[in-house]
Amino acid sequence: MTRFDNKTVLITGAAGGMGSSHARGFHAEGATVIVTDVRDEAGAALVAELGDRAHYLHLDVTSPADWENAIAETERLAGPVSVLVNNAGILARTALIEDGDLDDWHDVIGVNLTGTYLGIRATAPSLRRSGGGSIVNIASTSGHVGTGLIAHYVASKWGVRGLTRTAAIELGRDGVRVNSIDPGVVNTPLITTPLHPGAAPVSDYFSPDAFAIKRMAEPQDITSLLLFLASDQASFITGSEHIADGGMLLGPALAAGQVQNRS
Ligand SMILES: NC(=O)c1ccc[n+]([C@@H]2O[C@H](COP(=O)([O-])OP(=O)(O)OC[C@H]3O[C@@H](n4cnc5c(N)ncnc54)[C@H](O)[C@@H]3O)[C@@H](O)[C@H]2O)c1
Repeated sequence: MTRFDNKTVLITGAAGGMGSSHARGFHAEGATVIVTDVRDEAGAALVAELGDRAHYLHLDVTSPADWENAIAETERLAGPVSVLVNNAGILARTALIEDGDLDDWHDVIGVNLTGTYLGIRATAPSLRRSGGGSIVNIASTSGHVGTGLIAHYVASKWGVRGLTRTAAIELGRDGVRVNSIDPGVVNTPLITTPLHPGAAPVSDYFSPDAFAIKRMAEPQDITSLLLFLASDQASFITGSEHIADGGMLLGPALAAGQVQNRS
């Protein structure tokens, strides 16, 4: 399939675990991909791997000036943006709310929530110039529940859900659809690398055996949903949240275990 021929797709945090999978997926389906990140070497390496129809731009999503520059450069290189994927995201040190570091709070809210807000603001005029398009925000199942020790991350992802709905209302008249994907546990460095020396990686806190689908996701599981949502096949879907968590949030693990042990 080539659902993205002649489309320009800008992805934030595209050098990372899920972002690089998304970049490869869009590129394989004909898009010109604008890989953006703060990790310039990794971003440039990905673009070299992709070859034609791929460009790297430095874009710190917390910087309005970087956004302005990225959109101008994108239009110069590849024309207006048809698809924006607000994918960049971070976690910070785990702590109880009462012990947490305010700088960590600001860092996580800054990248995950304010970065998404700035991305929508900066890209909306370009999406309009392209004749309409699609924004997909990468939220999280953490935006559907509370989770001890990561209040910053949970609050940021709940915020992304509200932002998604509001942007969908505001941009629908311009032919721009806005949706979120809310992944569960995905095998990327974000959760497989300890957040600070001596800490266990976040993935250690989850037991995929308790999910209805008994594994964590691979990035490609999320990319296939993203490609659908960003494409014209999803032409009437906007303001929607799409959980891809292998059934993690379905209900008590015990019940899921009992069902699956009966075969
Ligand atoms: N991995 C999971 O289990 C999981 C689950 C749910 C949601 N998510 C979300 O998926 C998205 C992608 O995460 P991932 O798992 O691929 O993580 P990752 O750490 O592999 O990739 C994140 C990328 O974001 C980049 N980044 C960090 N700060 C940035 C900034 N200020 N500006 C631009 N880029 C910046 C990093 O350099 C990195 O390349 C994030 O929004 C994350 O919150 C991840």
